[in-house]
Amino acid sequence: MQIIDSIHEWKKIRETLQNESIGFVPTMGNLHAGHASLLKRSIHENSTTILSIFVNPTQFNDANDLSRYPKTLEADLDIAKDLGVDYVFFPNTDMMYPDKYRYKVTENAFSAQLEGQHRPGHFDGVLTVVLKLFNLIKPHKAYFGEKDRQQLLLIQDMVKVLFLDIEIIPCPTIRDASGLALSSRNQFLSIENKLLASRFPAILQSNKALEEIIGQLSNLGFVVDYVEDYGQYRFGAVKIQSVRLIDNFDIPTTDDSVVRRRVYEQ
Ligand code: PAF
Repeated sequence: MQIIDSIHEWKKIRETLQNESIGFVPTMGNLHAGHASLLKRSIHENSTTILSIFVNPTQFNDANDLSRYPKTLEADLDIAKDLGVDYVFFPNTDMMYPDKYRYKVTENAFSAQLEGQHRPGHFDGVLTVVLKLFNLIKPHKAYFGEKDRQQLLLIQDMVKVLFLDIEIIPCPTIRDASGLALSSRNQFLSIENKLLASRFPAILQSNKALEEIIGQLSNLGFVVDYVEDYGQYRFGAVKIQSVRLIDNFDIPTTDDSVVRRRVYEQ
């Protein structure tokens, strides 16, 4: 496994990979079993797999969230190597943003909803860095988790409207034994709060009215950012103290839920 921290060096390597099928897993590091599932799938489906590790500052609207984002490079590299990743692309902010973020990708409808409503500018940062990474890595396939469903939908849409020749592969959410979706932020939960957090997925996917779900979560002590049906999915985001959890599920196709659903343009 080679670790590359220079764009120039990466471009030279990429030229030697013309006959390979290239799978790409972009991450912000702190790898867990969710990331491992994307990497395993890429390794299985492609002759060469590239993992990127870059904590992208432009997608954080909260400076505290950025500064405490866990950085575990050595452990990440061990995981990547054990899985059989071929290259780890590890750029820094100056390399990725030589323009100091003067240029950005903005989607101005769906990205303002749900997560976007609570994290202004978040998806500009995500779409911009993902497009830059796609242009550098030039993958045939790129792997994204369904846990970040809104991100996944926006990236699929960006690839379509910008005519990028990349297949986006959605990968199922990986959960712990309690049902809680794996996330780098879960490690900030106390044991007690982790127990509470594990109730979130079951309540979110229950076949109750949205208002009832919000009420139940609030009564348990969650601060609810949103619980909304959008397209074919139910999206939810809650906070326990300073830890934010997001999740989503397919919603049941009862007449009631069809009426309440909002439509995103895809
Ligand atoms: O999902 C993530 O980890 C990030 O949003 C991504 C796609 C790596 C972009 O920074």
